[in-house]
Amino acid sequence: MPAIDNNDLTGTTRRKPKADVTEIGGHALSPSTLMMGYGYDPMLSEGSLKPPIFLTSTFAFESAAAGKRHFEGITGKRPGGAEGLVYSRFNGPNQEILEARLGVWERAEDALVFSSGMSAIATLLLAHVNMNDVIVHSGPLYAATETLIARILSRFGATYVDFPAEASREEMNAILAEAQAMAAKQGGKVAMVYLESPANPTNALVDVEAMRAAVDAAFAEDARPPIAIDNTFLGPLWSKPLAHGADIVLYSLTKYAGGHSDLVAGGVLGAKQWLGPIRMMRNTIGTICDPHTAWMLLRSLETVELRMTRAGENAEKVCAFLKDHPKVEGLGYLGFLDAGSQKDIFDRHCTGAGSTFSLFIKGGEAESFRFLDALKIAKLAVSLGGTETLASHPAAMTHLSVPDERKAALGITDNLVRVSIGIENSDDLIADFDQALAAV
Ligand SMILES: Cc1ncc(COP(=O)(O)O)c(C=O)c1O
Repeated sequence: MPAIDNNDLTGTTRRKPKADVTEIGGHALSPSTLMMGYGYDPMLSEGSLKPPIFLTSTFAFESAAAGKRHFEGITGKRPGGAEGLVYSRFNGPNQEILEARLGVWERAEDALVFSSGMSAIATLLLAHVNMNDVIVHSGPLYAATETLIARILSRFGATYVDFPAEASREEMNAILAEAQAMAAKQGGKVAMVYLESPANPTNALVDVEAMRAAVDAAFAEDARPPIAIDNTFLGPLWSKPLAHGADIVLYSLTKYAGGHSDLVAGGVLGAKQWLGPIRMMRNTIGTICDPHTAWMLLRSLETVELRMTRAGENAEKVCAFLKDHPKVEGLGYLGFLDAGSQKDIFDRHCTGAGSTFSLFIKGGEAESFRFLDALKIAKLAVSLGGTETLASHPAAMTHLSVPDERKAALGITDNLVRVSIGIENSDDLIADFDQALAAV
């Protein structure tokens, strides 16, 4: 057993893992390699190659002084967070290893994991938004996120302005000016710019670089609101928004990161400056993910690149088949964008087209339902990013709560079927889509 690192000066007693190997002779290791062991030292756990699941509600302190020092970190009395394990509502070994590995994908300074994508989003907003503040957000957003901003935070005196995901730099300037005027009138501040790109379910892309330039031009650096972005559809492989000017990246880890449709979790990545208050809020309300889910995610991250690559290749083949099909009105697939501003954003921000797309069936709800009911391999279920192909009808399911006029404005039509392609054999998937379209 390694010696316990008793540091009497600071009062910390945490056994330190050995330093991670992140480069060999100047060659930087890729995230897919680091997913096998980064952030975990087997010698701290009896040599167990994989981390044990730490099923405990609390952690014993080496001394009362160590306990005091840890609580100073937990409560924010001392910056930098907890230096040791304290209580499972605050932190735990499985969650910390997962946070270390998740951060690798975007070279994030800090990462936090949550019990769901929505608890990550809620904790983020509760941490950064106060009464009379204004949130600027792109549209559409995942319906529960829209509900949270428009119907729940408004109960506590926060307001919002929204803009279409496809907005130009000029439109972004205008929306920020509108938000600043609203905030001044209300006696609050512009608390956050919240983006979702690609948007659920339309796949519309937001120009993150343009929004960062617009925010930098509109605000003094010390009064700048953070730009947060939901990267669930393309992350962590095909889009890395921190590199394009975002400050905080959000994930429903339930999707591609988990990847097997067997868990629910969320993640937040970014600089400590922005994540500090979110960590404090998570400590207070207890939205951290549980150790078992964290362990499952560590297992999933080992194959995330393999799974996403295969799903992306399959989606390209399936979309090539659907593109000119007589029963198909159109496709919202990022791999087939026509030249224009969306293609320009895609080329600058994304390294892959993903495997989730919108399929517009000729007809309306009845035709779309017939198609969905006829699928034999693809499962009729909401969610995305799993090993299996899923199809759903956003207007009647995930976005049912969105008012009809807003659905129409956002392009969430009755003939829109959302498809998430999995890792099955692509010829089998094409055969399934072919026979289901024949039933329309
Ligand atoms: C883009 C996006 N963000 C957030 C969420 C919420 O994630 P969760 O279901 O893990 O709470 C979802 C769920 O579908 C989503 O699609």
